Amino acid sequence: MQEKIKNYILEVEGFIPSTEEHLEEFRLKYLSKKGILSDLFLEMKEASPDQKKDLGKVLNELKTKAEEKYSTFKTSLENNKEEVASDKDLTLPSMRYLGSRHPISIVRSEIVDIFSRIGFTVSEGPEIEDDWHNFSALNFPEEHPARDMQDTFFIQKNPDIALRTHTSSVQVRVMETTPPPIRTISPGRVFRNEAISARAHCIFHQVEGLCIDEDISFADLKQTLLYFAREMFGKDTKIRLRPSYFPFTEPSAEMDISCTLCDGKGCNICKHTGWTEIMGCGMVDPNVLTNCGIDAVKYTGFAFGMGIERITMLKYQINDLRIYFENDVRFLRQFSGIV
Ligand code: DAH
Repeated sequence: MQEKIKNYILEVEGFIPSTEEHLEEFRLKYLSKKGILSDLFLEMKEASPDQKKDLGKVLNELKTKAEEKYSTFKTSLENNKEEVASDKDLTLPSMRYLGSRHPISIVRSEIVDIFSRIGFTVSEGPEIEDDWHNFSALNFPEEHPARDMQDTFFIQKNPDIALRTHTSSVQVRVMETTPPPIRTISPGRVFRNEAISARAHCIFHQVEGLCIDEDISFADLKQTLLYFAREMFGKDTKIRLRPSYFPFTEPSAEMDISCTLCDGKGCNICKHTGWTEIMGCGMVDPNVLTNCGIDAVKYTGFAFGMGIERITMLKYQINDLRIYFENDVRFLRQFSGIV
């Protein structure tokens, strides 16, 4: 009998069920009331007390092994069934979502590209600025109301340090370190303490432009900006310069382009005027040149500054600034393939 039980043990050890039905056959054969184990326990009762001891040992081993085998395969076969039921096809190729560039990055590169074709380099400056570079050197006297044009985020306890409110601060850094001729643009992030709405945000992007040389005139400024507007918005785009005020330019102007949406006929976007404003500009104030160590008798120059969000809105007809920051892939995917 002992020999028989040992053979059963070997059989149980080697048993691997392929289906649940197969496993059920195993249970019936060994573990059911009419199964092998019940029979063997009955048979054991007939044995002599000496034999019983040894038989009991091997018989218990067979029982444990059969039970373990059954419970292990029961759970693994059930788990397999769940995977099939969940309809997952592991052989399918993975979904391919190629990322896209953010529209602000696309337009920034395009602006850089347009100006680099006429000899402008790219320069950068820090986002955390001191008062000198953001205001004083740019001819904003202390306590001057012009500082209120730009609601500033100051660093706590230090009124000298702030998040830059415009990229005009980079003009100052370039002029302080580079002798003319200078022809540079400075794209970057700027910060203003403004309530967030469809038309305003506390973080946005600007591109500053600066050109300093002997005999630079307002005509150079105008021609440069006309070239930019036509490259960016199409060859039929018209520009218009309106007198304005900035502390760092004299004279100053604001530039409008003919509305890209209605071709100047008048629509909601241009408030029925046919024109939309895209940037501020002017001739660099001689005070600014002097502040930055440039000979204001020998040199003149022009500067301009535009918001990248605004240019992007006009180019792609986006009507809410907040969408740029929301990371909604349905918005971003529309720009895939544009570099
Ligand atoms: N810094 C101005 C602003 O943020 C924009 C600007 C206007 C820049 C005129 C210029 C300029 O360089 O000449 O509102």
